[in-house]
Amino acid sequence: MTLPRSVETAEVAGKRVLVRADLNVPLEDGRVADETRIRAALPTLELLLERGAEEIAVCSHLGRPKGPDPAFAIAPVAERLAVLLPDERLRVLENTRFLPGETVNDPETARSLAEGMDLYVNDAFGSAHRAHASTEAVAHLLPAYAGLLLLAELEHLGRLLGDIARPFVLVAGGAKVEDKLGVLENLGDRADTVIIGGKMAEEIREGARLPFPVELPTDVVAAASFDADAESRIAPYDAVPDGWLGLDIGPESRARFGELIRGARTVFWNGPMGVFEWERFAEGTKAVAEAVAAVEGYTVVGGGDSVRAIAELKLDDDVSWVSTGGGASLELLEGKLLPGVAAIPAA
Ligand code: 3PG
Ligand code: MG
Repeated sequence: MTLPRSVETAEVAGKRVLVRADLNVPLEDGRVADETRIRAALPTLELLLERGAEEIAVCSHLGRPKGPDPAFAIAPVAERLAVLLPDERLRVLENTRFLPGETVNDPETARSLAEGMDLYVNDAFGSAHRAHASTEAVAHLLPAYAGLLLLAELEHLGRLLGDIARPFVLVAGGAKVEDKLGVLENLGDRADTVIIGGKMAEEIREGARLPFPVELPTDVVAAASFDADAESRIAPYDAVPDGWLGLDIGPESRARFGELIRGARTVFWNGPMGVFEWERFAEGTKAVAEAVAAVEGYTVVGGGDSVRAIAELKLDDDVSWVSTGGGASLELLEGKLLPGVAAIPAA
């Protein structure tokens, strides 16, 4: 993989720098509920400050507002950033998705972002699969560089596309088989074992097909309704009572998946095994997280929900890389060119 040129090679002293970060964090009651992405953006900002940037304007999208919407104002994110990295040269621009031209990669919108700036640094790995004004068009208007997080993500995830230690186990869960089919097709062939759980396994039972053999659950925690307190019982994967839902993998599947994962030398895990936000349906995801953490090899976790699970279990230090990108990590592993990366000159 050709890497984009690094911010470390840029002449930043005295410059006004526009940084695109991915500060699209979950909010709860108007507060930042998880600041992982804000922390991940710090090394590049610190580097720019240390190297004497005169002014740094950080921009990001937040959520999916259809236009200006106070519920998606960037203020809570800006406040956290100001606490984590207080410096008067640093300011945060309003949510890029308030700009009508952002998601259509409008050159005029990009021009308004570039106005008055000398350099552009894209550190928004999580948004690199989007060709938006703040991730793509603007990179053609200013000298453009890749931030440290963007580069680290490309290097770590890129390892899964190169020579890998075997067995290579791919673990997929979460919703929407279609969204993950590309990755499964690109990596699935290279994987020694493909494990599928969670909502994906439910979709396969309902008829979704994959072009290679996969390990499916043999049992599930079935629930009478989609509810944290729903009546539940262990049922065979292929004999869930009519109208019931599999909300987690069952104990037999947990043990089998755990064993397959622990025998791996390389693992990529994307997507939870069940509705882990609800304690009663969290065991499967927990078992997978623990098994991945126990592997003595190269382990990568990607995708918002599995990342949240591994962080909540405090196992994030026990894996080789936790990606800040969901869709972006999947598209990279599908072998696609990410527009936000392609727009930056190569190293
Ligand atoms: C994400 O959280 O997946 C990224 O920030 C991209 O957000 P988007 O899917 O709304 O473009
Ligand atoms: Mg997404």
